[in-house]
Amino acid sequence: MQAENRIIDKSILGSDTVSFTVYCPVIAKKAKAGQFVVIRARNEGERIPLTIADRDPAKGIINITILKIGKTSRLLSSFEPGDIIPDIAGPLGKPSEIENFGTVVIIGGGVGIAPTLPIIKTMKEAGNYVISVIGARNCNGLIFKEAIKTHSDEFYTCTDDGSEGFKGFVSDFLIEYIKQHPDKKIDRVVAIGPVLMMKAVCDVTRPYGLKTIVSLNPIMVDGTGMCGSCRVEVGGKTMFGCVDGPEFDGHLVDFKLLSSRLDIYREEEKTAYNKYMENHKCKMSQ
Ligand code: FAD
Ligand code: FES
Ligand code: MG
Repeated sequence: MQAENRIIDKSILGSDTVSFTVYCPVIAKKAKAGQFVVIRARNEGERIPLTIADRDPAKGIINITILKIGKTSRLLSSFEPGDIIPDIAGPLGKPSEIENFGTVVIIGGGVGIAPTLPIIKTMKEAGNYVISVIGARNCNGLIFKEAIKTHSDEFYTCTDDGSEGFKGFVSDFLIEYIKQHPDKKIDRVVAIGPVLMMKAVCDVTRPYGLKTIVSLNPIMVDGTGMCGSCRVEVGGKTMFGCVDGPEFDGHLVDFKLLSSRLDIYREEEKTAYNKYMENHKCKMSQ
């Protein structure tokens, strides 16, 4: 009998990304594509949201993929198989809208590639023709390649440095793809990744009138609509990323406001990170 929240497996995906398989039977049973969990890596620690990148209800496991960016993601990434994550709440957020739209282009950038996998799988199961496009700075960042390819009708990779696939951003690839396939009717685009990437994709699709769904990543605390920290503006209305999203119509999102709100605690985050690294170094040298 496994203990809840125990890490079953850990994979290192390149230099700054790790993936955990975690035993969470209740979440695994209920989670749907597009949903996330809120995690605390220490009982007294801050809460951070992470997408449920995959799940297996029969085995009671979920997969989370973490980009080491600051203090908490770094601390969590240092966990090993057998360790127990103190606190995992979920599944949270609205599931992705899945139906047979026809042809869907699903785009993942950086660590945003991980959450595209369950959407790709379920879009395919729903009968869509799925075109998957993943992008990263270099070929080491192209995570979950084989799994995504398996569930896609067409599969493309892009790298900023040209080390694999198309050389350039996923948004540049999309422009080329649309121009080279004038007869292909695209019914929906889904883009998940850094804010700038999602905005760039929306700028490409807007003139073509291609409905584009983005998964927003505002700062979240409780993930249940109570604290208001995840406020985003969509179509001129204030929405809560955690309960009204995280997926929204990208053509209606105020990306400028989202970017500026993501920077609000930059100084505090830097201080916390430096302190963590300092302590960590001390422990290493003891
Ligand atoms: P910090 O140094 O504290 O922060 C670095 C930057 O991360 C900040 O400037 C801010 O932009 C952002 N951030 C900080 N705290 C939060 C917070 N509580 N909530 C949201 N953003 C924050 N990252 C992944 O690596 N994998 C995922 O699957 C993933 N899924 C996400 C799903 C959702 C719905 C959201 C909203 C975010 C997701 N993120 C994911 C982003 C992840 O939550 C942040 O990278 C993480 O909180 C950073 O914490 P930190 O302490 O390591 O970094
Ligand atoms: Fe608190 Fe959304 S995270 S209201
Ligand atoms: Mg933090």
